[in-house]
Parts: sequence; C-alpha cells; structure tokens
Amino acid sequence: MNVSKQDNAESLKEAMRQLPFPVAIATAAIGKEKRGITIGSFTSLSLSPPLISFNIDHEAQIHPLISRATHYAVHLPQPEQSSLCDHFAISGQTSEEQFEDVDYFRSSYGSPILRAIPTIIQCRSYEKVKAGDHTIMIGEVVEVEQRNSRPSVLYYDRSYRSIGPSVPDKKPKVKRAG
Ligand SMILES: Cc1cc2nc3c(=O)[nH]c(=O)nc-3n(C[C@H](O)[C@H](O)[C@H](O)COP(=O)(O)O)c2cc1C
Repeated sequence: MNVSKQDNAESLKEAMRQLPFPVAIATAAIGKEKRGITIGSFTSLSLSPPLISFNIDHEAQIHPLISRATHYAVHLPQPEQSSLCDHFAISGQTSEEQFEDVDYFRSSYGSPILRAIPTIIQCRSYEKVKAGDHTIMIGEVVEVEQRNSRPSVLYYDRSYRSIGPSVPDKKPKVKRAG
C-alpha cells in the first residue's frame, strides 16, 4: 500500500466514525464447528428475491467457515443485548469460548440461533464477492422471526447507542396562491 492509499484508509475510518450504524450478529455452523461474529455491515439488498448482505474480513476466524456454510443466521440485537455484541466482537476466542455461556440452539437449517435476540433472519448462502480485504456475503432470506419491533442497537463513535428522538420538522411552508 502506498502512503496516499494508507492516508485514504485512515481518513475513511475517521469519516465513518461520524456515521451511526446498525449492529448485528452473524452465526454459522458446519457439523460441530460453529462461530459467530458481530457485524456493522448488515443491510437489506433486494426484495425480489429477498436478499441481505454483510461484509466479513478475510482475517476473521469465521471467514473460512461462513464462506463454506450453505446457511447462516443474522441476529438484530436490541440495546439491552449490547453485551452479546461485545462478546461476539472479542478477537481470538475459540468456538467453545464463544458459545459456552450463551443460550442457543441449532435451527433446522443448521445455524446457531441466539435465544436472547428477538429478531433473527435466516439465510441461504446466495453469493460471495471478494472486495479488497473483505468478502461481501449475500444471503437469500429463508425465514424471519421477529418477536417485537423495538429499535435495534446502533454503534457510533466506538460505543453502542439507542436511537434518539427524530429531528424537528423543518420543511418549508408551501405558499398558496390567493
Ligand atoms: C460494532 C462492530 C462492528 C463490526 N463489524 C464488522 C463487520 O462488518 N465485518 C467484520 O468482518 N468484522 C466486524 N467487526 C469486527 C469483528 O466483530 C471482530 O473483529 C471479530 O469478531 C474478531 O474475532 P476473531 O478473532 O474471531 O476473528 C465489528 C466489530 C464491532 C465492535
């Protein structure tokens, strides 16, 4: 990487700190091997078919597993579940350390489902696109469980946040003729 590319990467990181983003936890398993990861890159991508995407660092321990998995699950935690987000963001944990104190079960698609989290989107692996040092994982939604519709947790300036009040309505008043 030359100096200017490095500078741009740092500037991008700095600029992205201004942007609050949603936090999700992705999980995958193959046989007895299972893993989870906290992600900030989750978004919906298409409705026909229903697709979602998120990005996984090539260095992340889950990368080889989730790349081979036929299915995975994406969990949308609420602010009171931020400790689970912290837990699945700790680097260097073994698979056992990740799941030993976490209440989960394996879905009919084989993905680990974290019981505490009320919204879970199960996906079939649809496509993987290598982009720089990450892989864009594209999943086709096969099942959605949504036990409530309260706002998910956000991440901003290196901490978890709850959504704030909406901004005041500053729409210009429309002048009517006559
Ligand atoms: C709020 C937040 C968002 C994150 N988003 C991503 C992401 O979208 N993709 C990714 O690969 N890592 C992301 N990470 C980092 C991973 O969670 C973390 O590096 C990973 O769990 C390291 O574990 P490992 O040692 O098992 O690879 C994020 C971390 C946090 C705290």
